[in-house]
Amino acid sequence: MVKGYSRTQIALHWAVAVLILFQLIFGEEMGVAWDAVEDGLAPNMTLTVWAHIIAGSAVLALVVWRLALRLTRGVPAAPAGESAAVRMAGHAGHIGFYILMLGAPITGLLAWYGGITDLAEVHELAKPALIILIVVHIAAAFYHHFIVKDGLLNRMRKPLD
Ligand code: HEM
Ligand code: HEM
Repeated sequence: MVKGYSRTQIALHWAVAVLILFQLIFGEEMGVAWDAVEDGLAPNMTLTVWAHIIAGSAVLALVVWRLALRLTRGVPAAPAGESAAVRMAGHAGHIGFYILMLGAPITGLLAWYGGITDLAEVHELAKPALIILIVVHIAAAFYHHFIVKDGLLNRMRKPLD
């Protein structure tokens, strides 16, 4: 079992976090472009619309890379001293993130370029789901760092090996 996340794994975590926050904050204009597509009109391809497509596709590529690293290099064990139930909840949250980090761009691309319009509805569900997971994730990270005081945040700041 590796001692910590590698420099690349840490960089990927933060790059994906920034890109996802960007998507959540600036996603609305994509909705406007999509309304035009659904009305059979040409969408207004603003810079924000292109940024949504490019940032979202980048998330897909970076997350595939991240998963490959998880499988080949591995990740550190869950923090010591956690009950089995809490460890499982943390694990489930991370699996949920991976499903959303892959599912959001894939459904977006298939709706926009693949013409599977129903997937746009599924795509929209990623927004509340991601917001809930992010809030719980940050609360859990802060709880560990500042209340349990196990230095958990450092795992995503400095590589250990
Ligand atoms: C969109 C935002 C975010 C996403 C999608 C996300 C996703 C993830 C995922 C999937 C993991 C599991 C490890 C891995 O496979 O790489 C993880 C670990 C971690 N994240 Fe985030 N994260 C986000 C934002 C944040 C923020 C804002 C913080 C800081 C407050 C944070 C702190 C951490 C820490 C400390 C770990 C390590 C936990 C451990 O080793 O058990 N994350 N994150
Ligand atoms: C991590 C990746 C992505 C995230 C987190 C994300 C998130 C979002 C958000 C928050 C919205 C606005 C939803 C609303 O206003 O209720 C949206 C709309 C949309 N996004 Fe994405 N997006 C991602 C990737 C993509 C990609 C790669 C495409 C491909 C073109 C895409 C296509 C769309 C479309 C077509 C809409 C309009 C859907 C509708 O209004 O029904 N998205 N996205």
